[in-house]
Amino acid sequence: MAHLIDGKALSAQIREEVKQAVTQRTSEGHRAPYLAVVLVGEDPASASYVRGKAKASAEVGIGSDTMTYPDDIGENELLDIVKGLNEDPEVDGILVQLPLPKHIDDRKVINAIDPKKDVDCFHPESVGNLVIGLDGFQPATPAGIVEMLRRSNIETSGKHCVIIGRSNIVGKPLANLMLKKGMDSTVTVCHSRTKDLPSIARQADILVAAIGWANFVTADMVKPGAVVIDVGINRVDDETRERGYRLVGDVDFEAVEPIASHITPVPGGVGPMTIAVLLQNTLKAAVDHSA
Ligand code: GUN
Repeated sequence: MAHLIDGKALSAQIREEVKQAVTQRTSEGHRAPYLAVVLVGEDPASASYVRGKAKASAEVGIGSDTMTYPDDIGENELLDIVKGLNEDPEVDGILVQLPLPKHIDDRKVINAIDPKKDVDCFHPESVGNLVIGLDGFQPATPAGIVEMLRRSNIETSGKHCVIIGRSNIVGKPLANLMLKKGMDSTVTVCHSRTKDLPSIARQADILVAAIGWANFVTADMVKPGAVVIDVGINRVDDETRERGYRLVGDVDFEAVEPIASHITPVPGGVGPMTIAVLLQNTLKAAVDHSA
């Protein structure tokens, strides 16, 4: 039986820490940190993520505003909006919810964000700082995973961390965080072209699944006693649910749970940690901004 890593509880712990730091700052005469969220279009999943971010911000005393635009907004108009937020001294953090409509180049918009306000850690300067181990913003999902490991007292030094998935949002930045001094893991990143992926996964002391493929990681891919971190959030049809689907991860939880030493559930695992890191980043932006 694996120990269940409770992302909800750990996220609540971090949010409480941020709340206390915000209260401390405001009691010292600083204004509350402020996060500007830009949402383009009406994708229900994006709208739901953004609502979660706004609610979590309010709960810890971070001000936020969600600026919503129609999906036919022009690229230049959106770039001007970002420029305005860069120049606004009341704005500490800027988050442009992705994906953007097809006619807008995501990369151009991300690159337009002032790196000092880049709470998503998507700007190339932020990514560069991360790779060379300089202090800066933390990417939400990978840093959420690191916090889970740390707060669960899981040893990472000298351990083999195998990451399945090479995305810019999870796989690549996580590989860099796990390599960092202090984490000191040996890292392997697997992807769709990896040969004999199961045999590499089986070598993992810490196995991270981030490929967006329901139940991809099966029991034969897991070494007994491994720590298994499931980043997937996949919808699978389920007639027994009122909404017609349920959420499952990239790991076949039922099969893997008896083998692993630690495992994260879906939902309630990595997901809640990402918002906690966003709040930490917004607080950091405000602190650095007023320094
Ligand atoms: N879309 C899905 N996840 C994220 C995220 O972490 N940040 C932004 N900006 N968009 C997303």
